[in-house]
Amino acid sequence: MEQFFVVGGKPLNGEVEIFGAKNSLLPIIASSILVDDEVCIENAVPYSDVLAMCKIIEGLGGKAKWQGQRLILDCRNLSADTVSHEVASVVRSSIFTLGPILARMKSAKVAYPGGCDIGLRPIDLHLGGLRTLGAKVVEKNGYIYAGVLNKNGGDVTLSFPSVGATENLMMYATSLQGQTRIFNCAQEPEIVDLQNFINACGGQVSGAGESVITITGGKKLHGASHYVIPDRIEAGTYMIAVAMCGGRVVLKNAIASHNDKLIAKLMQTACKIKVKDDTIEVLADGHPKNLGEVETGVYPAFPTDLQSQITALACVSEGYSLIIENLFEARNKHIGELLKMGADIRMRGGIAIVKGRDMLYGADLVTPDLRGGASLVLASLRAEGYSTIKNIGLIDRGYYKIEEKLASLGAEIKRIKEG
Ligand code: UD1
Repeated sequence: MEQFFVVGGKPLNGEVEIFGAKNSLLPIIASSILVDDEVCIENAVPYSDVLAMCKIIEGLGGKAKWQGQRLILDCRNLSADTVSHEVASVVRSSIFTLGPILARMKSAKVAYPGGCDIGLRPIDLHLGGLRTLGAKVVEKNGYIYAGVLNKNGGDVTLSFPSVGATENLMMYATSLQGQTRIFNCAQEPEIVDLQNFINACGGQVSGAGESVITITGGKKLHGASHYVIPDRIEAGTYMIAVAMCGGRVVLKNAIASHNDKLIAKLMQTACKIKVKDDTIEVLADGHPKNLGEVETGVYPAFPTDLQSQITALACVSEGYSLIIENLFEARNKHIGELLKMGADIRMRGGIAIVKGRDMLYGADLVTPDLRGGASLVLASLRAEGYSTIKNIGLIDRGYYKIEEKLASLGAEIKRIKEG
């Protein structure tokens, strides 16, 4: 078991390259199941969640090969339609394989997904959407069994714009004859990236990034190469780190427009932010002004995946801040850890009322979930004294070598053996 050892109090300075987006890679890897050919994903990163998805592909008879930051997936010899509990329980995105397996094999047996413990995370919208599109879906003994009853496209309306359900249905619809429309779909940049990947493979998808996606399906997809968009949550995490610790950091290979809401909030705390082409420069004195109210929502609202990190910022910002989490009811386990560091936070329902303090203090901490873990790293960087952070395997799900990147900016953080 490994842990982080962090000595806080250092400003951050330098340049950091933002990696490819985890939340783009996961559905794109799943959609390689649709393609009876080799596909090449550029700007790929071996996050542990991504490695878990590659394992699922291999379990189905596909191949996954890494060449540096290129991931080559080959699903020509796909032979199985089953994702076992053993592999599905490792990663929430295992559910993304349901639509593509059904599309390709005409039957699917996929175990219920695992993933970070941030709330109930039902999959009713995925299953209901598939049923509306004519699939037979039965839930039994921890597995979802699906078969194809109707091969024609149709209309489906999501009662909530779920990212995963939108992606699953988009992928499934590529196999249906004629036109499928998904109404009230999610609009995240990663969905646009998935559309671009499917279209590079010869698919016909339009509307991603807006509320109605149209898929004209039934065409055989072919191999292609696709460059994955930068990870907006990784970029946002480093931007918040600078706001908390002070310094000047240039993020390279970042898309500022994907982080509009965060940039507006950081400017409110008196960070100076300059955007040029695909770089974002963040300059801060480490004494953030009042953050006010931050409320998470579906894109383009403030992302829930940056809620834990901005809560850490609120702990050292002037005055009172309100952090309102609207998507995941249990995404607040980092709060108890921040309290150990001297943070002043009260919870009222899903709202965190945070009174900023000049200083946090190092402590022995335990990562509650991926983004909650990132918030503890940020708080430890800002804190007086040293911290240890256990259970960092959860952080590795969505940050690759975070300690090396932060150390290159002047932070004192090391990965060490627990004990
Ligand atoms: C994706 C992201 C995750 C992010 C989340 C919200 C990936 C791999 N993960 O997760 O990092 O935090 O979007 O931006 O892209 N819901 C239902 N029924 C369903 C599906 C979802 O009620 O069938 C609810 C969820 O409980 C949650 C909300 O919808 O309250 C949003 O979930 P969803 O957009 O589906 O998130 P994920 O796709 O799981």
